[in-house]
Amino acid sequence: MQGRHLVSIDDLSLAEILELFEQARRFSEDLRSWAHLCPGLISASLFYEPSTRTRLSFESAMLRLGGGVLTAADMRMSSASKGESLADTVRVVSEGYADIIVLRHPSEGAARLAVDLSAVPVVNGGDGSHEHPTQTLCDLYTLWIEKGTLEGIDVVLAGDLRYSRTIHSFAYALARFGANLICVPHQGFEMPNYVLKRLREEYGAEPVRADASRLGDLASESDAVYLTPQKPHQLSLFTDGSGLPVDKVDAVYMTRPQTERWGAESEQNFLRLGGGALSPEPLRNALLMHPLPRRDEISPDLDANPRSMYFKQAARGVPVRMAILAMLLGRWESKAPRIASLDRKYEVLGGDNPCPNSNCISHTEQRHCKATFRITAKHPLRAVCGYCSHELAIGVVGCSTTRHFHDRGSAPARKIRPDHLVFFRDAEQAVTMGYTAPTR
Ligand code: NCD
Repeated sequence: MQGRHLVSIDDLSLAEILELFEQARRFSEDLRSWAHLCPGLISASLFYEPSTRTRLSFESAMLRLGGGVLTAADMRMSSASKGESLADTVRVVSEGYADIIVLRHPSEGAARLAVDLSAVPVVNGGDGSHEHPTQTLCDLYTLWIEKGTLEGIDVVLAGDLRYSRTIHSFAYALARFGANLICVPHQGFEMPNYVLKRLREEYGAEPVRADASRLGDLASESDAVYLTPQKPHQLSLFTDGSGLPVDKVDAVYMTRPQTERWGAESEQNFLRLGGGALSPEPLRNALLMHPLPRRDEISPDLDANPRSMYFKQAARGVPVRMAILAMLLGRWESKAPRIASLDRKYEVLGGDNPCPNSNCISHTEQRHCKATFRITAKHPLRAVCGYCSHELAIGVVGCSTTRHFHDRGSAPARKIRPDHLVFFRDAEQAVTMGYTAPTR
């Protein structure tokens, strides 16, 4: 298992996830009796963003496994404040300082870059609004323990679905387990298109967007979950008062507005559209989940409710992260088949970086990062950034050997070898770069 990383929840097969949960459950029976597993090994926490649960539970997990920890809890206190790149930091730390790196960073795709440079396994502890796979394992583990299964369950995802990385990883995993997703976003903070496309095209999942009219069809008179705004002037999401039938819902997963990732425009929209928090009211059968930290999304009055799961999710972070560390450090091996590796990454040829996401690590650390892509569809040709998974804006594509360019939906475009592909915004740019349209 040496040499493995956990960057996306897609790095683990479903069978491996379930085995990891069995192992976490064994660890949880007595957290104090596993110190023989990782003595002499060191994990390094490189945190470029604040954290309470992720960092402390990883460090607790490593200590409980008998290992040691190096903590850079505030990278502003490190040479990052002198302008040192993530790339150089990862190189240094992975060469003898530590045996595994847990990284949190504000740029999307940061953990993917770290993997390219690290001599030891890398765990993504959250990269911008992209993914947070280990939180997802804590969330799924909680559902698995409480519900006994993950297949076919119905989960409401609520709040800031646009910027919450916990939501994105959770949605991918739930979709792979065949769960049904019901999205109740804050207005203006819907699930991003690149996430919806991946859910649809890679896992065949179509999240239901719940709004008042849709819920009218779904609702039953009794047993309902209501998500209502806390301030009276806010628009209720479920204006017909019938709510979402709890019989059909296994869990409601709330998220906090990710204000630190918003630009001024998001802030204004949030306020203009009512702002504030959603608050779930009667709970009946549905579990209430939250990755924490919470702001106003869940009233402390609900904390004593046996279906409120958020403190359990946090507590379960320790055995789940013990299982992740033991697996990546080669001290516990899952017998389950591994996932077929993700499609290959290719280097972008030619001038501009085609990744449209300005917060992608391929832009924020461009001196250390060669732009890369993965192909996700051939008819028409579609590609995503190899770091942050955002879809590339491709107008026409060229072949670096023939120096011809083609429409991306055309048959010749499909035939270009991926390592010869060149992306252009439009035909004009292709011509400027010396490419020609093939003569018939
Ligand atoms: C989450 C995160 O950092 O993305 N926190 C966590 O790890 N439990 C959620 C959040 O900050 O809202």
